[in-house]
Amino acid sequence: MITTALTEMFRLKHPIVLAPMGGVSGGSLAAAVSNAGGLGLVGGGYGDPAWLRTELSRVKDETTGPWGVGLITWSVDAGVVELVLGHRPHAVMLSFGDPRPHGAVVKAAGCKLICQVQDLAGAHLAAEAGADIIVAQGTEAGGHGGGRSTLPLVPAVVDAVASIPVVAAGGIADGRGLAAVLMLGAHGALIGTRFYASEEALGHGLAKQRIVAAHGDQTGRTTVFDTVRQLAWPAPYTGRGLRNRFMERWHGCERELSAALDAERGPYQAATRDGDLDTAVVWAGEAVDLVVSVERAATLVQRIGAQAERHLTLGANLTQGDSGGSTREWNAGSPHPTA
Ligand SMILES: Cc1cc2nc3c(=O)[nH]c(=O)nc-3n(C[C@H](O)[C@H](O)[C@H](O)COP(=O)(O)O)c2cc1C
Repeated sequence: MITTALTEMFRLKHPIVLAPMGGVSGGSLAAAVSNAGGLGLVGGGYGDPAWLRTELSRVKDETTGPWGVGLITWSVDAGVVELVLGHRPHAVMLSFGDPRPHGAVVKAAGCKLICQVQDLAGAHLAAEAGADIIVAQGTEAGGHGGGRSTLPLVPAVVDAVASIPVVAAGGIADGRGLAAVLMLGAHGALIGTRFYASEEALGHGLAKQRIVAAHGDQTGRTTVFDTVRQLAWPAPYTGRGLRNRFMERWHGCERELSAALDAERGPYQAATRDGDLDTAVVWAGEAVDLVVSVERAATLVQRIGAQAERHLTLGANLTQGDSGGSTREWNAGSPHPTA
């Protein structure tokens, strides 16, 4: 059993948090992660009230464990925060924007505040907001994010915010990644892409299959999907998704895309509706290499937790003059049996 400030705060069996992936982390996926001993966060995204009511009722029905909700800070108003808090989550996570105004309301409701940040300036703002947990998100992450990499960002945030527990995000999809970020000083991992390819995740089955088939070098960060969806994402955020025909066509030509919106918007919406993933986006991170099948969320939580524990034990052996076992043992976290 791995015990950290995160597991103690929420009484978790594993230091694993489900990323609040908009349109993907619905109530059932969040509940499945919480029931397996992690912390499930519903992906409240841009704050659609009807969707939130349905999914928050679902998570409450399906788990008695701790759960929470993630919101895209710049896109939601006080009414959405109030709606969410009315369902009495254990945690609210704010990402992408100044967390202080909504954060104060979350804290006043007695709810734990989690802030996801992409750089040190964001970490200082999160500390000012009174964050109980700060998620340091590296650029490897699927979905929206910034430009810093997980490996140097996590310890830099740990050093910058001193007493506030940090959780790492971006590129973690198995127990090796979880063990590694614990060594960087994080108290757990927030994981998105790996859980997208789970049975309980919302989202098109074809999108899950694309994630299973893809390699990390087939992902890229871009603003073209926000442009065509007319979502006013502020700088410096971009989104990482699987490279597809639409991205190849427009990435680097964003001005031309803006000028062609009248013609492009309708076909893009139709592609989203029809599951045409050569046009519609599949948000996914560099860790897609490690995703080789669609599995139940509980299986993932238990396996990632157990693998991390094993790797930490093997790692400790290195200081005892033991090489940590055979290469085979080191690879025990690999999703590829022959690796
Ligand atoms: C499909 C998808 C949707 C996402 N949507 C959101 C979102 O709505 N709000 C948010 O804070 N983060 C969102 N993220 C980013 C996650 O919070 C998290 O930082 C990321 O998934 C971690 O990296 P990983 O994908 O490599 O595990 C999304 C990520 C993915 C893959």
